[in-house]
Amino acid sequence: MECTVGLSSAPFSPVASMDYERYDRVRAVTWNGEALDLLDQRVLPMQQARMICHDVGQVAQAIFDLVVRGAPAIGIAAAWGLVLASRQIQAKNGPEARVALADATQTLNAARPTAVNLAWALRRMNAVLANAGDDWRAILANEAAAIEREDLAANRHMGRLGAALIEPGSGVLTHCNTGSLATSGFGTALGVIRAGVAEGRVARVFAGETRPWLQGARLTVWELLQDGIPATLIADSAAAHLMSTGQVQWVIVGADRITANGDVANKIGTYALAIAARYHGVKFMVVAPSSTVDMHTATGAEIEIEQRSETELLGYGGQRTVAEGVRAWNPVFDVTPAALIDAIVTERGVVLQPNAQRMADAWSGDDA
Ligand code: MRU
Repeated sequence: MECTVGLSSAPFSPVASMDYERYDRVRAVTWNGEALDLLDQRVLPMQQARMICHDVGQVAQAIFDLVVRGAPAIGIAAAWGLVLASRQIQAKNGPEARVALADATQTLNAARPTAVNLAWALRRMNAVLANAGDDWRAILANEAAAIEREDLAANRHMGRLGAALIEPGSGVLTHCNTGSLATSGFGTALGVIRAGVAEGRVARVFAGETRPWLQGARLTVWELLQDGIPATLIADSAAAHLMSTGQVQWVIVGADRITANGDVANKIGTYALAIAARYHGVKFMVVAPSSTVDMHTATGAEIEIEQRSETELLGYGGQRTVAEGVRAWNPVFDVTPAALIDAIVTERGVVLQPNAQRMADAWSGDDA
């Protein structure tokens, strides 16, 4: 069986028939030339408020507070955060700037631990400084713009690759928010769903609410509504039952980190979906740009899983809903073993039934 398809470093070719504007209207991260403009995802969908970040500390705090969230989006925000930091230091050339920006890089890196895109973007930003001269500030800003631009192109390409795996008329279930709100646009898993809807392959979209932060309920179904894509919200605990009814043929999710053996860290609850999908014969697809692939980490067991405040579980909207004195445990990601995954889709191609060998074949000669 051919387990790696379409892997190449060829330039992306856009889907000729896809009206991207129609299916992708929301933007979460915008550089306005002076500051970083973020759509505040803590208050969506009831309020569409923007937070303008003028310095690197504000960007790091916004990442930690989930004003901006989703692995690719936090990488992009961090890149622009470093551009903001570059305005607060003096340096004659790139190598000097790199040293002067070490604290800012560290502050951004520490904002969230699981999504590898954050460290990847900061490494890439620092790398361009190595040979930069006195125009290092412009070089840094160009690199941030390139990271953002390439993410959008990758998402559009992945949309087409992933959609091609789906039989026309299928139902899909997604988890968390992997759309334009989580990326520079179009989305990863949600990009595949957008492309699948446009091509008539996806006939039914279900979204899990994604307790406790409700990325599915507050963000995904709102985002799809903006683009005229009907989606049905389910309680996370309804997923296995939904699968048993035969209404979904694919679970499609994003990733925060994909390790060298094909294990996938993603929003808490993803692992349970993969187990339920395998039991019911539902296929499981992970969609992520190559910036999410971490070939330096051997397996998912080595990934640091972010723990967030127990207050996210003990109440809602600032109102306590659980008896005083009760404690909670709140890991916000989990690891899905490669053995439960049918396809990993990146902009470089599709790895079917991922394992260490197939990942190594796909990423050979690359330090992604
Ligand atoms: O805590 P979040 O909302 O940042 O978690 C986001 C996810 O888990 C997404 O599935 C992942 O980052 C991929 S987004 C394209």
